Order: sequence, then C-alpha cells, then structure tokens
Amino acid sequence: MSTVMNTAKYDLQFIRSQFPNLGEWAFFENAGGTFVPATVSDRVYDYMRRNQVQPGADYRASAEAAERIDRSHRKLAEMVNANPREVIVGHSTTLNVYVLANALRPSLKPGDEIVVTNLDHEANIGAWRRLEDAGVVIREWRVDPESASLGGVDRLAALLSDRTRLVCCTWCSNITGTINDIKTIAELTHSAGALLCVDAVAYAPHRALNFKESNADFLLFSLYKIYGPHLGVLCGKREHLLKMENQNHFFFTNSALPYKLQPGGYLHETAASIEGIAEYFDRVFERHYDVRDCTASERYQKIFELFADHEDSLARPLMDYLSSRQNVRIIGTSKVDAKTRVPTISFVAKNRRPAEIAELLGKKDIGIGAGDFYARRLIDALGFGTSGGVARISMVHYNSAAEVDRLITALEAVL
Ligand SMILES: Cc1ncc(COP(=O)(O)O)c(C=O)c1O
Repeated sequence: MSTVMNTAKYDLQFIRSQFPNLGEWAFFENAGGTFVPATVSDRVYDYMRRNQVQPGADYRASAEAAERIDRSHRKLAEMVNANPREVIVGHSTTLNVYVLANALRPSLKPGDEIVVTNLDHEANIGAWRRLEDAGVVIREWRVDPESASLGGVDRLAALLSDRTRLVCCTWCSNITGTINDIKTIAELTHSAGALLCVDAVAYAPHRALNFKESNADFLLFSLYKIYGPHLGVLCGKREHLLKMENQNHFFFTNSALPYKLQPGGYLHETAASIEGIAEYFDRVFERHYDVRDCTASERYQKIFELFADHEDSLARPLMDYLSSRQNVRIIGTSKVDAKTRVPTISFVAKNRRPAEIAELLGKKDIGIGAGDFYARRLIDALGFGTSGGVARISMVHYNSAAEVDRLITALEAVL
C-alpha cells in the first residue's frame, strides 16, 4: 500500500453526519447493537419499495432484487477477506452457531472432545454443550476470576488431547473488552489436530476482520453490531463446509454453499442493505485518505486503525475516572491499549446495583447497559450472578469526547 496517504485528522463531524439518529442522547450501549448509517437504512427502505418480490426470477423487480442481494454478499465477503462461498448469512450469530453445531454433529463420535470457555457469550457455548447428548465430552477453559481473563494459552494447551475436535473461543469478551490472541490460539488448536470456532461479535465493531489471516476455521459476527442490519454471519473454511451435512431442504446438495447452511433463509430487505455498510466504510476511507492502489483488506485495516485511535482517546478519560473511584471495581484490565482491549468497559459499584446505575443515567438521556449480557457463565464465575451482573459502557468510533464528559459528570452524581 505504497501510495495511500493520510490526508486529514479524524473527522468525527463527518462520521456523525452519516448516522441520522446520533445527537440528542448519548449512546453507550453499542455492544448491544450499533446505530446504522443512512447508507444502510435507506437501502432497506428502497428495497422494500422497489424490490419486495421473490428474488431471482426474470421480471425486472425480481432480477434487480437478486442482484442487490448478491452484490451485498460479495461486498460482505470482501469486507472480511473471505471467499463469497465461505460466507453464510443467517438471522443471528446464536442461530448460526446452532446450525453449525448441528451440521457437525454427524461427524463427531462418542468420546470426541470440544473445548468451550466460560468467558464467551452463551451463543458460542450452549449449542456445543448440547452435543454432550451425542457422547461428546466438553472441556472448559475457565477464566481466572481475579483477572477476568482466560490467562495464557498454556491453560488451553493443558486441555487439548488427541480426542480434541474443536476449540470454541471468543476473540473479544463482550463484558471485559479484552482481546484474545486468536492467531496463537489457532496455531495451538491446529497443532492438536482440532478446528477453531471464533466468536468475533464483540471484536468486529472495533477491528478489521480478516478471515483468511485469522486462521480460524469458523468465524462468526453479527452485522447489527457493525453498523448494519439485524443479521449474523458465519465464515467457514470451504474444505470444512463442504464436508458438513446439509441443514436445508433435502434437494440441496452437499456442495450447495452457502444455501445448505442457511435453513429458512434471511430477510431480503436487510440482506440487500449490507452493501450500505461497505459504502459507509468507503466514505470514511475517502474522507481520510488519498485513495490509490490498495487492496480491500488494506483499506479496512486503515479505517479500523483510525477508529481504534479515536476509541482509545475516548476510553482513557473514562477509565481514569472509574479507576479513581474507590467504590468501583473495573472488570478485567483498566489499561487502555488498542492491542489488548476495546472500549467495552464493565464495572460494579459498592453503593449501587448495575440496573440502578443504568436507570439513573437513562433519566439523563445517557444509555448504558446492565446485567449479564448472556455471558451468564462469566458473570457467575466472577460472583456477580446474584447481584445483578455488571454495568457496561461500550463505545464505538462515532462517540464523542463531549459525550464522554457528559457521562463522567452524570456518573459523578450516581456513584
Ligand atoms: C460476544 C457475543 N457473541 C454472540 C452474541 C450473539 O449474537 P446474536 O444476537 O447475533 O445471536 C452477542 C450478542 O450480544 C455477543 O455480544
């Protein structure tokens, strides 16, 4: 990427102008689902007005519908550096893991082992644990309750054996914001002859996803957390996908990718809007860089580097403030560092339950989250299962320093 130059400093005003619903209230529950730019919502509206027919027939509205969905699919694959036939779109990540687990079930024998964590969102645990009824043995890679992290990969190594078939692990915790070293985890998993299934849902809003480079065998993320519609995506290495059992109607062959892993299809108007996410990222890139000869992956890398820098600048004052409070415990690391964490910050306070904090901030038009966020096993392991979980503040690249100031002022009155 020799001729790509940075031409401007971070243009937050431009970025915020792309999101019609940003502004009146301060939104810090982005890990639950982000806002969408007009490039996405306009496409949903436009598709429904012009193309709301069964796609793929010869009449114009239908042919155009198929082309819109196909174009979105190709853009999506490009965004994450995957082959379009390795990309499966479904209703959600939870459902995609469920379909994946069922597709793998016939290839597993009693006594085969699967490693899951208790750090993950339940989406990447429950469907795997259900395979116990097929004789699969579940091994749990447990968090250290002090650091709220999985610790070194030696702890994973101790769980691997020649019976291990699969390791399921999150790239980033939706509670602590800690980034796991997926490349090393992939190496270790593969050296044991097992496959790796990575939940990238909490990672993807903050860092460029590169399926090929990640070396995961399966990689999942949710579009509604990366500025898109309410859909989930499963990327899988082709050689594994081809071997799996068809989960769709009987007349789909085993080579019918992605259809054989898309039972029930998905919402067409939202699928057609996915290219709006790519258009938004293109706009951000063009605003900040002189575009020359660079690959799509290099472009996304640059965009997310911009985002990460800005996000760190937002996280620092908030983390400083929370760290300065004697009655607050930050869950996980309080060090702001783009290499090791994203700006998803959870905490508990001695004087108030998480739901109470969220409610009081809500009255001031500040949205944060409270609870277990379906990472129930982690919250239990940390001992917060009976005290309402944690309060969670999650920021993304469109949040502003003014919003963080407002949040800290509000927290001062609450904590
Ligand atoms: C880390 C993580 N994984 C998986 C999921 C589930 O995603 P979906 O709602 O698409 O099933 C979530 C949702 O919050 C999440 O945060």
